[in-house]
Amino acid sequence: MQLVTEDNITDLAVQRWATARDPRTAEVLTALVRHLHDFAREVRLTEAEWMAAIQWLTRTGQISNEKREEFILTSDVLGLSMLVVQMNHRLDPAATPATVLGPFHIEGSPELDFGADMSEGLPGTPLYLQGTVRDLEGNPVAGAVLDVWQADTDGAYESQIPDIDEARLRAKYTTREDGSYCVRTVAPLGYSIPMDGPVGDLISQTEISHFRPAHVHFLINVRGYAPLITHLFQEGADYLDSDVVFGTKQELVVAFEPREPGTTPDGGKSAGPWSEAHYDFVLQRQA
Ligand code: BEZ
Ligand code: FE
Repeated sequence: MQLVTEDNITDLAVQRWATARDPRTAEVLTALVRHLHDFAREVRLTEAEWMAAIQWLTRTGQISNEKREEFILTSDVLGLSMLVVQMNHRLDPAATPATVLGPFHIEGSPELDFGADMSEGLPGTPLYLQGTVRDLEGNPVAGAVLDVWQADTDGAYESQIPDIDEARLRAKYTTREDGSYCVRTVAPLGYSIPMDGPVGDLISQTEISHFRPAHVHFLINVRGYAPLITHLFQEGADYLDSDVVFGTKQELVVAFEPREPGTTPDGGKSAGPWSEAHYDFVLQRQA
């Protein structure tokens, strides 16, 4: 019989968790035990600190529901989500980089035509996002579905607004034969991540900025290519260099060019000023 000591407890726990029948589960859990024990030793974790952490995790679970994913937010602000994305999407340097999905994507967005307005009736400066979807050789990719979503001018996503029954600032656009797409929306603003929960409690104890720079989300799917989850960020936006979820990448920053009232890319007329941005998404073939 081997009795437990402070010196052998890590080895004993690793041996136990190494019995997981699935080899990958054994690998992940034994590494988790080693790193957790090393962490506790390094910071000389006290019982009061351990209990505070358990209560924080409990609150994180309790505040989560189908519309609020506080554990994902935790992973996002710790930089873990972006690390996992980057390790698992080592794309060709010429391909559009991937970013986090974030907690606000909603399935089943309405399908809109080229240039149709996904911001109908909402305030804001009209913004046309245009470009093409291409492969690494530069060939246009027709029939790619761009699932697009963003926050409103108050920084709120549809899932944060109670009792809403219409899609709001989200839509699916399909590329034409020449790979082109055109999204009509309103210019997004930077916004704060939800600060009224356990993640906000922790961030409030630091000098960390809790804002994200102005951006629009894209999830691009087309048969034969790796799905691409990414964002486009507005050039010159606040918080570009301090994004609280580490999502910004230089390649994804685009100019929102201001335009005078007049003819817009969809052939319509804008009575007020509007903006346009161009971006060509480059997809990589499915491995
Ligand atoms: C978002 O951009 O929607 C987002 C991503 C991660 C955390 C919070 C918000
Ligand atoms: Fe967002």
